[in-house]
Amino acid sequence: MKVAVLGAAGGIGQALSLLLKNGLPAGSELALYDVAPVVPGVAVDLSHIPTAVKVAGYGKDDLDPALAGADVVLIPAGMPRKPGMDRADLFNVNAGIIKTLAEGIVRNCPKALVGIITNPVNGTVPIVAEVFKKAGTYDPARVFGVTTLDVIRAETFIAELKGLDVAEVKIPVIGGHSGTTILPLLSQVEGVEFTDEEVASLTTRIQNAGTEVVEAKAGGGSATLSMGAAAARFCFSLVKGLQGEEVLEYAYVEGNTGDATFFAQPVILGKNGVEKLLPYGELSAFEQKAKDDMLATLEKDIKEGVDFMA
Ligand SMILES: NC(=O)c1ccc[n+]([C@@H]2O[C@H](COP(=O)([O-])OP(=O)(O)OC[C@H]3O[C@@H](n4cnc5c(N)ncnc54)[C@H](O)[C@@H]3O)[C@@H](O)[C@H]2O)c1
Repeated sequence: MKVAVLGAAGGIGQALSLLLKNGLPAGSELALYDVAPVVPGVAVDLSHIPTAVKVAGYGKDDLDPALAGADVVLIPAGMPRKPGMDRADLFNVNAGIIKTLAEGIVRNCPKALVGIITNPVNGTVPIVAEVFKKAGTYDPARVFGVTTLDVIRAETFIAELKGLDVAEVKIPVIGGHSGTTILPLLSQVEGVEFTDEEVASLTTRIQNAGTEVVEAKAGGGSATLSMGAAAARFCFSLVKGLQGEEVLEYAYVEGNTGDATFFAQPVILGKNGVEKLLPYGELSAFEQKAKDDMLATLEKDIKEGVDFMA
């Protein structure tokens, strides 16, 4: 298994790479690419950890060898939020970065499973899809916006509120990955009842959890450690899928819910990426209204990505 991390020297990139060095199957290869000159050092540092995962660092002119033959590509490259910014503010800077990296994937590993972490995910995923379409290599089953952070936050906050074992909490989070487009389906958490007030406040907390971190870091960036953990969890699921196991995940994909072109929904991962798109099930009246209210925002974010490529 070859996994490439693009933006590997950043806050997310380093946390993620550490977890992958410790958790990928023995014999795997980890390719770390970044434009920052520190990236070879990050690779050397990680290479001293005694696991059977080979690590190599690639500097700014070596995108092609970093990607050559990769099975999975994870992209946390680009600018994070500062206080007062929302994810959409990042679009102008990050759109160009994502386009360049997607073109590298076309040249070097067009069959790879690609997990996009770079914000705004609602718009960067459509950019990658458009680059692949232009090249004739687009397969919607292989392109994912990584929304796992929304899922792990929801699991954590529910467990805290209800005094549950967090390992037992399962919750679908659908929609997009920005503000109100993030929609946790609290009505589907098994064995747990929420009051209307709890539903409203938990939903808002999950939607704004990124801002909680941005403000607490006071100008020092956005979520990196929890995002590293979330991306590693998603990557391990992709890898298990490639190895023939069927795994349930939630991801922002070009799916079949009929809500928007790209929409986070439950998927079964397998040897070809998405093996099966699953329905998200019945919504409560609160969730239905929240979904109806956010679709225009999500569509606008998607259109921004498509228009950038046009
Ligand atoms: N999907 C999510 O849930 C989620 C959560 C948190 C953050 N993010 C996003 O992830 C991105 C990275 O966040 P971070 O905190 O790690 O930022 P960071 O600034 O710490 O790291 C970004 C890295 O990207 C590198 N980079 C910039 N241009 C590049 C290019 N063309 N090719 C390769 N690497 C390049 C930088 O050198 C840097 O090392 C941001 O856009 C952030 O908003 C997403």
